Amino acid sequence: MKALLLENVHGDADDVLGQIPGVEIERIGHALDPDELKAALNGVALLGIRSRTRITEDILEAAPDLLAIGCFCIGTNQVDLEAAAKRGIAVFNAPFANTRSVAELTLASTVMLMRGIPQKLAAIKRGEWQKSAVGSHEVRSKKLGIIGYGNIGSQLSVLASGHGMHVHFHDNEPKLAHGNARPAASLDELLAISDVVTLHVPSTPQTRMMMDAAAIGKMKKGAFLINHARGDLVDVAALASALKSGHLAGAAIDVFPVEPASKDEAFESPLRDCETALLTPHIGGSTEEAQAAIGMDAGLKLVRYAMRGGSAKSVNFPELDAGELADGRTRILALHGNAPGYLSTLTREISDAGLNIAAHYLNTVGELGYVSTDVEGDVSPELLDHLRQATGTIRIRSISA
Ligand code: NAI
Repeated sequence: MKALLLENVHGDADDVLGQIPGVEIERIGHALDPDELKAALNGVALLGIRSRTRITEDILEAAPDLLAIGCFCIGTNQVDLEAAAKRGIAVFNAPFANTRSVAELTLASTVMLMRGIPQKLAAIKRGEWQKSAVGSHEVRSKKLGIIGYGNIGSQLSVLASGHGMHVHFHDNEPKLAHGNARPAASLDELLAISDVVTLHVPSTPQTRMMMDAAAIGKMKKGAFLINHARGDLVDVAALASALKSGHLAGAAIDVFPVEPASKDEAFESPLRDCETALLTPHIGGSTEEAQAAIGMDAGLKLVRYAMRGGSAKSVNFPELDAGELADGRTRILALHGNAPGYLSTLTREISDAGLNIAAHYLNTVGELGYVSTDVEGDVSPELLDHLRQATGTIRIRSISA
């Protein structure tokens, strides 16, 4: 089986993919243009990319051997997921591998803001020696208000409690509190009581601009706001005026409504001239540890799919994992249209071939069905051809123990 890894995917991915018997791994350190990519995909079963490689329908059309794509990053916008599913190509990513990195940066930013580091750093670089304790505070015993108690919010909760903070949180789902953290009665209560409010929600119609002028106005005077989640959660113009008026004592912002597409574009924001703003260029999750974790996570998902057809956590396939294949068995994996009759065709063809079904699992999502069937003994090329031609089949493959 041939695997192609582009864009300097972390080296840990090679070790993980090496678990596939006989795998040949080719690496190219950058993204390829469409024609180069089509040529490079010849014979490739597993493709690993990061965010710069665009996988369009046209590219997929030119890659008949491709079984799965691993996005060694968080997002999957760069891949036409529907077109991939239509061709039976499973797509995976590593959505939570960088959450610890974000939680750590948020905790560090809390300390930095409460010590007035953004303005002290700016002053010392101008040659000013602002050695004063006025307005500087320990984080111990202060209230941290976490909005969104998911992977990042809940990890931050544990880190902040360890630093002696009183953690309150707001989530739109019921969540088990870690340690002594407490759910706030409402978002408004959280805004009103917190010394530091930090956002860890996704961007949705409900959360977009959730921190507008009115919500910022509900925060305590002298409090701090952190957004290390998504750029469109905060009205940055309203935040800049709250910082300039002194209503908020500082803010740490890593994500912006408009971000430069590359290092050659200038960063524009009303926050640029706010001295109490600690600004970072969307690097909350960008650490070498996170890259290694992404290499492991996305790599392992590709290995499971290649070796046993496991599609758990795929972003475009029905999820299913039938586990390890027992010795002496063959697994038939069929991606098919989710319509009545497919399973009976499949089982009839298998029984007509004189094979006994030892295990059988199905999952469906929308218009797709994915079925994994273990039979005793070997499967002939004729049976696979019959199944390939059966009404509803999108893709068939078999794996032997
Ligand atoms: P998650 O999905 O684990 O947690 C999000 C939480 O927000 C969930 O508990 C959910 O129930 C809650 N939530 C959703 N809508 C809500 C609403 N309207 N009100 C209150 N709670 C709501 O996500 P995770 O992994 O913790 O990520 C959080 C954010 O951090 C995401 O926006 C993600 O894109 C961002 N992120 C930013 C990075 C960076 O580089 N700065 C890196 C990684 C993630």
